[in-house]
Amino acid sequence: MEKETTISAEELSSTLGVDISISTKTGVCPVIITTDTKENGIEWAKKAKDEINELLLEHGAVLLRGFDIKGASDFNTMFKVFAGDPLEYKNRTSPRDKVYENVYTSTSHPKDQEIHMHTENSYSKTFNRLIAFFCLVPPDVRGETPIVDERKLFKYLTKETLDAFRERGVKYVRNTIPGVGLDWKTIYQTEDKTKVNKYLEENDIAYEWIGDDHLRIQWVLPAIQRHPITNEEVWFNHMYFGHKSLYDPMVLEFFEEKDLPFVTYFGDGSEITDEVIQEFKDFYKEHTIDFSWQKDDFLLLDNMMFAHGRRPFDGKRTILTIMSQPHQFDLDPK
Ligand SMILES: [Fe+2]
Repeated sequence: MEKETTISAEELSSTLGVDISISTKTGVCPVIITTDTKENGIEWAKKAKDEINELLLEHGAVLLRGFDIKGASDFNTMFKVFAGDPLEYKNRTSPRDKVYENVYTSTSHPKDQEIHMHTENSYSKTFNRLIAFFCLVPPDVRGETPIVDERKLFKYLTKETLDAFRERGVKYVRNTIPGVGLDWKTIYQTEDKTKVNKYLEENDIAYEWIGDDHLRIQWVLPAIQRHPITNEEVWFNHMYFGHKSLYDPMVLEFFEEKDLPFVTYFGDGSEITDEVIQEFKDFYKEHTIDFSWQKDDFLLLDNMMFAHGRRPFDGKRTILTIMSQPHQFDLDPK
């Protein structure tokens, strides 16, 4: 079903000199902008930035395809035109390499593993409203970046589930253990434990040094936020990503629950049942768009409206990422 939009695709196409299609069909990126004339990405962005931001606010995801964008530096400049100054990737959960200023490889997580749906930094008191991805090298096999409209998720969840999360929020427990995932020095980008402790205290994160390099932290944040521009309520947290049931059974056998790298509960510490998680699994199965990369694709997401993940892949696959527009969690979003 095509949705009524406030901006007409035909009108915009002729104003901006490119093909614009707007769709709400499952399996199609909501806004796809294509050009077959290899239009210079940066110059075009300057001309189109207001319209792109308007489309993004309405639809949550915009794909630019076929533009002339020369690697990380152009990606950085073009993103800045649309989205303002990029942010440094702090308080990390994902192994990433910086490739240019604040442009990073999207993740160097093992390629045979799925990365579950999440909104970037939604476990962190300071988060980015915008995120973009750029395809430098497409994967040979699979390696899609699945995306999904979390505003639809908000409408899909049962009242009981929403009420429970609204009431209790989400508790996050994270362990950094030597040899498992990122070490604390990478996460906090310092070698100084005093600085880590200070950062944690300032952010109301409880911490415990179990051993020299084993740090366990826990904190609670709301599960729902209001979008800072549209003011609509959005599902914005990392609950699903960290739920125990999504772990490989071998990992669960290896670790005691208290030592899992990243695990989530209701804010009061109680278990989130598998039945609740099944609602999310059903939604993601039905509504996820398995976005397949083509070289030089530029995908812009409103991080509070669209979640993303990563399918396992083969081949080189280099997807770059960049973030902007920092916001603070509203800790009492009633
Ligand atoms: Fe991510």
